[in-house]
Amino acid sequence: MVFNSTGFGGLEVPNRFVRSATHEWMAEPDGTPTERLGDLYEELAKNEVGLIITGYSYVNPKGKSDHLQQGIYDDKFIEPYRKITSRVHKYPSKIALQIVHGGRQTMITTENPYAFAPSAVTEATRGMTPEEMTEEEVLETIEDFAQAVRRAKEAGFDAVQLHCAHGFLLSNFISPYTNRRKDRWGGSTEKRTQVIVDIIKRAREMVGEDYPITAKMNATDGFPKGSKKKSLDAPECVEIAKILADNSVCAIEVSGGIAEAGEELFWTNINSADKEAYYKEYSKMIKEAVDIPIILVGGIRSRPVMEMLIEEGYADLVSICRPLICETDLVMKFKNGESEVAKCVSCNLCSDKTGIKCNYDFDE
Ligand SMILES: Cc1cc2nc3c(=O)[nH]c(=O)nc-3n(C[C@H](O)[C@H](O)[C@H](O)COP(=O)(O)O)c2cc1C
Repeated sequence: MVFNSTGFGGLEVPNRFVRSATHEWMAEPDGTPTERLGDLYEELAKNEVGLIITGYSYVNPKGKSDHLQQGIYDDKFIEPYRKITSRVHKYPSKIALQIVHGGRQTMITTENPYAFAPSAVTEATRGMTPEEMTEEEVLETIEDFAQAVRRAKEAGFDAVQLHCAHGFLLSNFISPYTNRRKDRWGGSTEKRTQVIVDIIKRAREMVGEDYPITAKMNATDGFPKGSKKKSLDAPECVEIAKILADNSVCAIEVSGGIAEAGEELFWTNINSADKEAYYKEYSKMIKEAVDIPIILVGGIRSRPVMEMLIEEGYADLVSICRPLICETDLVMKFKNGESEVAKCVSCNLCSDKTGIKCNYDFDE
């Protein structure tokens, strides 16, 4: 199953393996993508990753979240990205650009002294309260995302992925914990999802009806069961997925967690099959409710689990991040029968500000 081709939004994907979006710390300080990024994506394509999703790419410098993060806020980025997509397209793999605004998790600098978010809810892990966005700022941000979609298409990306997960701006909008607005972008589930719908509508005016727009969404904010906080969780995530599917999102990657909820954002010590695919119950619920392909991410490590997830209707594609930092040739190893389980021990030492790499000492 995992080597069967599939597709969405008119796009053919040669197998079921997705490289989940991964911030690489490999762009220039102004966000320009580098040759090093092109080398990495080409390496993944050469090793038959069906769909490569780039690191999160910021749509406005006011929404930059980390150092050496890639940008897509200006037309000057189209040409360098085009060089990268054409390197990937030497192979059957497809490549999608993930686009983001940092929201409550924007990096505070002297040029960028405040973060903005749907509501002024203090971000406890940083002790920082964002400014509540004005109507004008919401409208500008919708335009920023839509222009980023246009640039992605012009740069040769096969698709875009709207980053609506992990506590960044669009995730802030969909969660009742971080969105307390009383206007057209806050309140009911529909209103909290409206900003994403508005982005898609505006983007469609520029890229047409056929360009594949996908989303990575939080199914849960991740607060412990029994928490009194009103936050995002099932069954509301199913309603949000339905709204996205009804508004021409052609595939949804299911993830979860915001830093503040207390759980590890990217779970560590995934060392047995029962710990794998920790959001699979959410993806199954969503998959049963919508007619578009579901991509599952989070702790997926072994080929038998991947096959099971597809065969038993948890997902259509399996998305992996840390294992592909550790072994860029993992898909080839599965294909050649050289391996059934990723070497990755899920230690998170790969979050390396000099450029992602596996820093675990396997000889220790
Ligand atoms: C170093 C690193 C960078 C990441 N960057 C992003 C990102 O840019 N966008 C995103 O949606 N998720 C990002 N993630 C989360 C992954 O895409 C994925 O959801 C998470 O790591 C769980 O998958 P895994 O268990 O296969 O690693 C990152 C994770 C790591 C470890």
